Amino acid sequence: MTFPEDFVFGGATAAYQIEGAAAADGRGLSIWDVFSHTPGRTVNGDSGDVAIDHYHRYKDDVAIMASLGLEAYRFSVSWPRIQPDGRGRGLEAGLDFYSRLTDELLNADIDPWITLYHWDLPQALQEAGGWPNRDTAYRFADYSAIVHEHLGDRVKHWITLNEPFCSSLIGHASGRHAPGLEDPSAALASVHHLLLGHGLAVDALRAQKVENVGITLNLYAVEPASDDPVDTDAARRVDGFHNRLFLDPVLKGRYPQDILHDVAEFGGLGDVQDGDLEIISRPLDLLGVNYYTRYVITGREDHPDLVGERTGQLHSPYPGAAGAREVRHGMPLTDLGWEIDPDGLVDVLARLKREYPAVPIVITENGAAFADPISEDGVVHDADRIDFVWGHLAACERAIAAGVPLTGYFLWSIFDNYEWAEGYAKRFGAVHVDYETQVRTPKDSAHWYSSVIRTRSLEQ
Ligand code: NOJ
Repeated sequence: MTFPEDFVFGGATAAYQIEGAAAADGRGLSIWDVFSHTPGRTVNGDSGDVAIDHYHRYKDDVAIMASLGLEAYRFSVSWPRIQPDGRGRGLEAGLDFYSRLTDELLNADIDPWITLYHWDLPQALQEAGGWPNRDTAYRFADYSAIVHEHLGDRVKHWITLNEPFCSSLIGHASGRHAPGLEDPSAALASVHHLLLGHGLAVDALRAQKVENVGITLNLYAVEPASDDPVDTDAARRVDGFHNRLFLDPVLKGRYPQDILHDVAEFGGLGDVQDGDLEIISRPLDLLGVNYYTRYVITGREDHPDLVGERTGQLHSPYPGAAGAREVRHGMPLTDLGWEIDPDGLVDVLARLKREYPAVPIVITENGAAFADPISEDGVVHDADRIDFVWGHLAACERAIAAGVPLTGYFLWSIFDNYEWAEGYAKRFGAVHVDYETQVRTPKDSAHWYSSVIRTRSLEQ
């Protein structure tokens, strides 16, 4: 199995999960600073205050990535480092950090890919209403223009939003992410405003002659647990909220009718104005797909294999469909309890090819948390992560062979990092980080991934 010459092998991170230096150089507060410092919101009360201190150690981190032969690195820009209050001129110190990081990457022959929004909204904008407020979309476009103006000469790949499903429905409906609301109407309004912000940012970047711009969505293979209409309808809704509610407006310029109908009782998607969907559906150069698992869904409250029952995650992110829940389907689990199902990735990609207009697709995230104990020899022998990535890269090859325009794969993550509400206990990195000493040690999977990149094949 070999990959095409121009297929990109990269790794991904996000600002709040790795940078630390939360108070450095005039950085403002984000909703994640406030959320993580609110008692009871995150496991162990963990926050990104220090994280892996990448802000100060970025040169060492780039050197590690270079030693592994990474071709591209996807990182996000922290909005409150650029605009501490979410508006106004860009802060020199913040822009300078990302400029130095970009130069360091280019010198190491690693292509920088920027995500503009990976969940860290400036707290000042939250206080002005956050994503449920339409104005935030315009603020996001202004911020995006500032960042592109400073880095667009060197950075050729831009992602507007990372996983708007999470920012909207997990942040505002299930409340498990910042800003921690459980308000279905606010959640639905934020879906529309995030997407509007995406479209406005695309326009702002196009005006500056951006080379490649896209959006990253977290897509899932979704199936009903049985043919019973209770299950098929629950699966339809979960597919609607996770996949179609974001794919349809971005790629087809319309919201899915069935979901609009289902959420009418909450005021629909809020203030959808004439012309919004044209902005949201501007042509893109790439679609970023984050793939982690397949959901098998039931609508039965008493299903014996309900996942939420086991994990305590009972707050639903699906407005009006709280009874739609995931059940186990017999696959091995990651440390987060997510079922490992590489065939689901093939299904997601095949569906994109079948049901949506063609656009180059990049896997902007895929990876897994495992317990990752350090062995007596001081190294993490993470054979389970190697199996996981092997299986998903093999799925990519199958999709390419089936004609899917898949052009790259970014491992989540290169370094262990702050897993949001789960804190530091869940490790996704190919490189182990000792959070006490900040020592980085490549795990077996890092060396293995490195050899995949070098040989462009999965034969190893
Ligand atoms: C998706 C998110 O983009 C990333 O921030 C997170 O750490 C991974 N998935 C793993 O949950």
